[in-house]
Amino acid sequence: MDRRMRVFGALIFLIIVSPTLAFVAGADGPVLFQEALENGESTLSCDSSPDTAEDEIMLLVWYKDNESIYSYDARVGTEWCNIGFNASGRVIANMSSNPTTLTITALRDDDQALYHCRVEFLLSPTRNTGVNLTVIVLPSEPFFLDELGNTVTNKTRPYYEGDTLVLTCLVIGGRPPPKITWYSGDILVDASYSVSDIPNVRQNELYLPLTRDNADTLSCRATNTHLVKPLKANLLIELYLPANNVTVEWIQETTNGNIRSGDTVIVQCIAYGSYPIPDITWFLNHKSLSHHSNQTWNETLQAVTSRIALTPTRVDNNATLTCEAKNPVMPAGRNSKSASVSLNVTFGPVVHVTRFEDEKNEVIELDTLILKCKVEANPPASKLFWYYNDIEIKDGIRGIRVSSNALVIDEVSRSDSGRYSCAARNNIGETKASPINISVLYPPACTKLGIVLKKETFICNVKGLPTPDTYFWHINQVDYDAQHLTTGSNTLSLEQVAGPFSESLNVSCEADNGIASQDKSCNRVIRIGHLKPQQPQQCDLAFEYKEFQIRCLPVENATYYELSLWRLSTTNTSLVLDQKRSLEVGNSLALMQNEEPWLVRGELGLLKAGDEAGAAACNRYGCSAALLLRPTEGLLSAAMPPWWKFFTERDIGISIGVLLLVVMFVCSTVLAVRLAKRSRTKPVPVIQVLQLDDVTRDYLSRTSDIHGLPSCSLRSNSSDYSEDGDSPSLADCRYPHIPQDWIPPPDVTLTLQRESSV
Ligand SMILES: *[C@@H]1O[C@H](CO)[C@@H](O)[C@H](O)[C@H]1NC(C)=O
Ligand SMILES: *[C@@H]1O[C@H](CO)[C@@H](O)[C@H](O)[C@H]1NC(C)=O
Ligand SMILES: *[C@@H]1O[C@H](CO)[C@@H](O)[C@H](O)[C@H]1NC(C)=O
Ligand SMILES: *[C@@H]1O[C@H](CO)[C@@H](O)[C@H](O)[C@H]1NC(C)=O
Ligand SMILES: *[C@@H]1O[C@H](CO)[C@@H](O)[C@H](O)[C@H]1NC(C)=O
Ligand SMILES: *[C@@H]1O[C@H](CO)[C@@H](O)[C@H](O)[C@H]1NC(C)=O
Ligand SMILES: *[C@@H]1O[C@H](CO)[C@@H](O)[C@H](O)[C@H]1NC(C)=O
Ligand SMILES: *[C@@H]1O[C@H](CO)[C@@H](O)[C@H](O)[C@H]1NC(C)=O
Ligand SMILES: *[C@@H]1O[C@H](CO)[C@@H](O)[C@H](O)[C@H]1NC(C)=O
Ligand SMILES: *[C@@H]1O[C@H](CO)[C@@H](O)[C@H](O)[C@H]1NC(C)=O
Ligand SMILES: *[C@@H]1O[C@H](CO)[C@@H](O)[C@H](O)[C@H]1NC(C)=O
Ligand SMILES: *[C@@H]1O[C@H](CO)[C@@H](O)[C@H](O)[C@H]1NC(C)=O
Repeated sequence: MDRRMRVFGALIFLIIVSPTLAFVAGADGPVLFQEALENGESTLSCDSSPDTAEDEIMLLVWYKDNESIYSYDARVGTEWCNIGFNASGRVIANMSSNPTTLTITALRDDDQALYHCRVEFLLSPTRNTGVNLTVIVLPSEPFFLDELGNTVTNKTRPYYEGDTLVLTCLVIGGRPPPKITWYSGDILVDASYSVSDIPNVRQNELYLPLTRDNADTLSCRATNTHLVKPLKANLLIELYLPANNVTVEWIQETTNGNIRSGDTVIVQCIAYGSYPIPDITWFLNHKSLSHHSNQTWNETLQAVTSRIALTPTRVDNNATLTCEAKNPVMPAGRNSKSASVSLNVTFGPVVHVTRFEDEKNEVIELDTLILKCKVEANPPASKLFWYYNDIEIKDGIRGIRVSSNALVIDEVSRSDSGRYSCAARNNIGETKASPINISVLYPPACTKLGIVLKKETFICNVKGLPTPDTYFWHINQVDYDAQHLTTGSNTLSLEQVAGPFSESLNVSCEADNGIASQDKSCNRVIRIGHLKPQQPQQCDLAFEYKEFQIRCLPVENATYYELSLWRLSTTNTSLVLDQKRSLEVGNSLALMQNEEPWLVRGELGLLKAGDEAGAAACNRYGCSAALLLRPTEGLLSAAMPPWWKFFTERDIGISIGVLLLVVMFVCSTVLAVRLAKRSRTKPVPVIQVLQLDDVTRDYLSRTSDIHGLPSCSLRSNSSDYSEDGDSPSLADCRYPHIPQDWIPPPDVTLTLQRESSV
C-alpha cells in the first residue's frame, strides 16, 4: 500500500507541477455544453465519485483550454487556485458536494472556453470530463430608423391606411449574433435580419403595408439566447383611419323605432375605429341638424358616442336619420362613414277634402261631382267616413256612391249644394277634415214673383247660381216700337225706357249667369197708370189782366200741365175743344215765384158762359184726368165789357167820341174803385171759384143748370181730342157711369170760396 501510495504521489506531483494538460474532446472524455450570460455565473460539475467502494479519489484538477486553473489534493485535502483566474475571488469550489462543482461568477467574455476536469483515483483509471462553456454577450436594445435614417421612438409619423411603412430595427453587438424579428402585436411579420453596413450592428428592415388590422403596436425583438427573454422595443403606429363601423340606436323606449308624433326620443350613434377622434354630424333627410349633440370618447372601445334628442312630427315620417362620423384629418372621399335609421313616426290622420281634377268648389247641375278624401296617417287609416252638412253619409243614399277615398254623385242637383267633409280613423285617433262648400250652379229661371214694378223700377225676379249678371229686357206697347234693353242687374228703371207710354206695358226679362241663358223668359203685362200725377184738385178761375186765367196749386210729381179750353158750340148743344196746350213747370209764365204759394197759372183768353177750362197734371207717364172749371155768372159779368163797347167797336166813325166817353167812364170807374178800396193799386182779379171734379161734373151735366150738356172732359187726358172743332158726338161723350141710386152728397162743395191774396 505504501509503495502504491508513493507511486501516486509522484504522479500527482507531476500533474500538479505541469501547468497544461491536453484534452481531446470525445477522445479523452465526454463534453457537456453549457451556456451562461456575461456577468452571470456558471457551475461546472465534475463527477469524482469512485466506481467502487474500495477505491478513493486522490486528485482533482480543472483545466481551462488545457491550462490548470484549480486543483484539489484529496490525500491532504489541499486546494489550489490559479491566482489570475480567481483574481476577483469569483471562483467557488465545493468538493463535498456530489458531483463536485466549480462555480464561476461574474463571467466575462473571455471565460468562454473548453473546460475539463481530471480525476485521479487510487485504483480506477483517470477520469476526464469536458465542459464547453459559452458566455453569452447580450446585444444592445433594438432601436428604429426610418427610411431617411432618422431615429424613431415610441411612435411613428402619421400614416394613412394603405401606406407602406418602412422601418429598420437595429441592434448593436451581441454574442452569438442576435436574431432580429418584427412583430405586429403578437404576430411575427418579418424575421429577415441581416448584417448591417455598420460594424457590429445587425438590422431588420421592415416593409409593411398598413391596414386597420396590422396597425397594432409594432415591436422589434432581438435574441441570442434562450436564457433571457428577447430584448424588445415597441413602436406605436400612428395610422389615420376612418370609422369602420357606425351604429345608430334608440336609447329611450320606442317600440321597434316607432315614434309617436311630438314625442321626444334620444338616439345614440357610436362610431368605432376612427383615428383621430371623429366629428359626429347628424342629418335628417340629408339636412344637417344644427343642434349638435354631446360627443364622448371611450378610449377602451376606441369609440365616439353621440346622443341627440329628437322630436319628430308627421312630416318626418319615413325620414332618414343619419349619423356621420367624419375624420377631420383624412382626405375627402375616404374620411367618413355613416349609418342611418328610418323614422317611423306614427300620427293620427290628417284629412283634406278636394275636388277631383278641379280646384273650384263649383259644379254645374247634372255634371258629375267627385270628391276625394286625402288621408295621411301612420299607421294607415282603417276607416273613412263622409259627411254632408255634418251628417254622416251612408253609401247609396241620395244617389251618392262612396268608393275607396272618393265620393261620387253622378248627376248633381242643386239640392246637393252644401258642406262636404270626410273623416278618417287609425289607432292613434280620428280626424275630420274641414268641410268644403260645394255650390251647384244652375241656369236662371223665373220665380213665382216674376216681374214686378216697384215705384218706377222693374224688378226681374229670377233664381240662378251664380246670380245672373246680364238681363235682357223687352218692352212692348201697343202702337209703339218694341224696346230692347240690357242691364247688369235685375232692375230696370223706367227712366231708361224711352217714352211715351201707354197704360200698360208688356214687359219680359231674360237673365244670363254664364252657365246658360234663361230657358223661358219672364213675362208680365204691367200697368203704369198709377205713375201719372194726381188730378189737380186745388184750382180756380180768375179774371186778371183782362183775361181769364186758370190757377192751380202744383201737383206732386207733375212735370208739366195740360190746359184745355172747351167752348160751347154755337148750337149750344156740345162742347168743342178750342185749344189745348202744355204748360211746362219751370216756364216763367206758369211760375209766378213772387206769389206765395206759387201757382200754376195758365192764360185762357176770354170765356163765355158754358165754356169750360181744364187743367191736367202730366208727367212722362201721361196726364191725369183734367179738372174742369166753368166760369160763374159773377165772374162772367165781371169780365164782360160794357154793352156800348160793342157799339164803339162797330162804328169807327164815332170811336173818338166814344173814346172820350170811355175814358170818362174808366176814370170814373177807377175813381169809384179807388174810393171803394183805397189801398189797392193793382187791378183786382175777379175770381170765380168753381171747381168741378169728375163726379160733380157728371152731376152737373145731368142737372139743368148747364143745359144738360154732356161733357167730354173725362176724355181730356186721352189723346183723341177732336182738334178740328167737331163737336164730340153724344156717343163719344159718354156719361160716367153713375149708379141709379146715386145721390150727390149733400155737402158736395161745388164752389170753393177763396179770398185771393193776389
Ligand atoms: C489542448 O491539447 C490538445 C492536444 O494536444 C489540443 O488538441 C487542443 O487544441 C488543446 N487545446 C487548446 C485550447 O489549446
Ligand atoms: C478564490 O479566492 C477567494 C478570495 O480570495 C477564496 O475565498 C477562494 O477560496 C478562492 N477559490 C479557491 C478555489 O481557492
Ligand atoms: C458543498 O455542497 C454540500 C452538498 O451539496 C453542501 O452541503 C455544502 O454546504 C457545500 N459547501 C459550501 C461551502 O458551499
Ligand atoms: C465548444 O462550443 C463551441 C460552440 O458551441 C464550438 O464552436 C466549439 O468547437 C466547441 N469546442 C470544442 C472543443 O468542442
Ligand atoms: C417614449 O416612451 C417612454 C416611456 O413611455 C417615455 O419615457 C419617453 O419620454 C417617450 N419618448 C418620446 C420621445 O416620447
Ligand atoms: C362594430 O364594431 C364593434 C367594435 O369594434 C363591434 O363590437 C360591432 O360588432 C361592430 N358592428 C358591426 C355591425 O360591424
Ligand atoms: C349632454 O351633456 C349634458 C351635460 O353633460 C347632459 O346634461 C345632457 O343630458 C346631455 N344630452 C344628451 C342628449 O345626452
Ligand atoms: C367605455 O366602454 C366600456 C364598455 O362599454 C365601458 O365599460 C366603460 O365604462 C366606457 N368608458 C367610458 C369612459 O365611458
Ligand atoms: C319610405 O321610404 C322608402 C324609401 O325611400 C319608400 O320606398 C317608401 O315608399 C316610403 N314609405 C312611405 C310610407 O312613404
Ligand atoms: C310603423 O309603425 C306602425 C305602427 O306600429 C306599423 O303599423 C307600420 O308598419 C310601421 N311602418 C314601417 C315602415 O315600419
Ligand atoms: C262654407 O259655408 C259656411 C256656411 O255656409 C261658411 O260659414 C263657411 O265660411 C264656408 N266655408 C268656405 C271655405 O267657404
Ligand atoms: C212722386 O214720386 C215719388 C218718387 O217716384 C213717389 O215716391 C211718390 O209716391 C210720388 N207721389 C205721388 C203722389 O205719386
